[in-house]
Amino acid sequence: MAPGVIYLDHHATTPCEREVVEAMAPWWSEHCGNPASRLHRPGLEAAAAVELARSQIAHALAAEPEALVFCSGATEANNLAIKGLAEAELRSGGARRRLICLSTEHRAVLDPLRYLAGHGFELICLQPQADGLVDLEVLEGALSDEVLLVSVMAANNEIGVLQPLGAIGALCRQRGIHFHCDAAQAVGHIPFQPAALGIDLLSFSAHKFYGPKGIGALLVRPGIKLAPQTHGGSQEHGLRAGTLPVPLIVGLAKALELALADQGERAERLGALRDVLWQRAQALGGVLRNGAMAPRLAHNLNICVEGVDGTALHRLLRRELAISSGSACSRGEPSHVLQALGLSRQQAAASIRFGLGRSTTAAEIERAAELLSACITDLRRG
Ligand SMILES: Cc1ncc(COP(=O)(O)O)c(C=O)c1O
Repeated sequence: MAPGVIYLDHHATTPCEREVVEAMAPWWSEHCGNPASRLHRPGLEAAAAVELARSQIAHALAAEPEALVFCSGATEANNLAIKGLAEAELRSGGARRRLICLSTEHRAVLDPLRYLAGHGFELICLQPQADGLVDLEVLEGALSDEVLLVSVMAANNEIGVLQPLGAIGALCRQRGIHFHCDAAQAVGHIPFQPAALGIDLLSFSAHKFYGPKGIGALLVRPGIKLAPQTHGGSQEHGLRAGTLPVPLIVGLAKALELALADQGERAERLGALRDVLWQRAQALGGVLRNGAMAPRLAHNLNICVEGVDGTALHRLLRRELAISSGSACSRGEPSHVLQALGLSRQQAAASIRFGLGRSTTAAEIERAAELLSACITDLRRG
């Protein structure tokens, strides 16, 4: 980490754990085989490493190994799930043309859905409640025989709220509607069993749980038909062409193993630190929390500071804190998530997302609270 900077942006990405780097190390040069080259030992060794990782990851998610499709991360997994399902529906002569999501989804879900909306599908973006959670009655009212897919994320990347996936899954299942869940912020952070929640398609990404960047997967419930979105080879059951990145896959499996091992203890510790930060922020007055406090990721806090200019606030805080005002993919635009909750553009810009992580200490949270207090006092004085 950069010296002198307190890293509180763990929703954007997490540092790759040393043990994960070590597990990947032999697979870069020493064991260089291509897992698709099954005619010699290096290739067979690489294939064995991939299949071991695949079964470990699948086991951790209570799924079958064949259900996993490795790809470059959650963005690609979302594209494969959403566009792959839509294309398969068209090809099979199916008549479902309606897609439903929450307006607070990540762009990696919204953009592929919008793309389809320009190609013969209809997109319904439901507004969440003011606390960021889906209104189940509104969702139920939107479901019909014309709906192909409901896509709702597990944990929001900005406000950390956890959606009622089991209830959504049950509503979809009763009507034969596919349920896709972008779980990029949830896997490795909260207990997660997709099949038990009625999830048909689940996206996740290693760099969100202390693994390497550039690797993730889509978990596909057996029987779901997808059209491949990357052509050029028969890897991953023909669903995702391209040479498999063995070191990254080994790293994904290791990171997930480590994340699941300390998940409960980490959530408890970070939840307590997050609560301290929230109490200190509240004590400053004119600070509102964005999103429901529960159910919420324990390592997330998102606050709106009233009566200050957001740009100035972030400029001051960023001298010592690595924080953000929203998604890393939003290019400085005021957050669409916070605006969907009813915040104005100014309020969204004056909001701060804190993402605590494995390395966060009580001293760092103390310092962050001090800085917050000093910056807000300065700016309010004018
Ligand atoms: C909820 C959510 N979905 C998708 C993504 C994109 O993930 P990746 O960087 O693996 O493509 C992110 C990361 O920013 C995210 O937070």
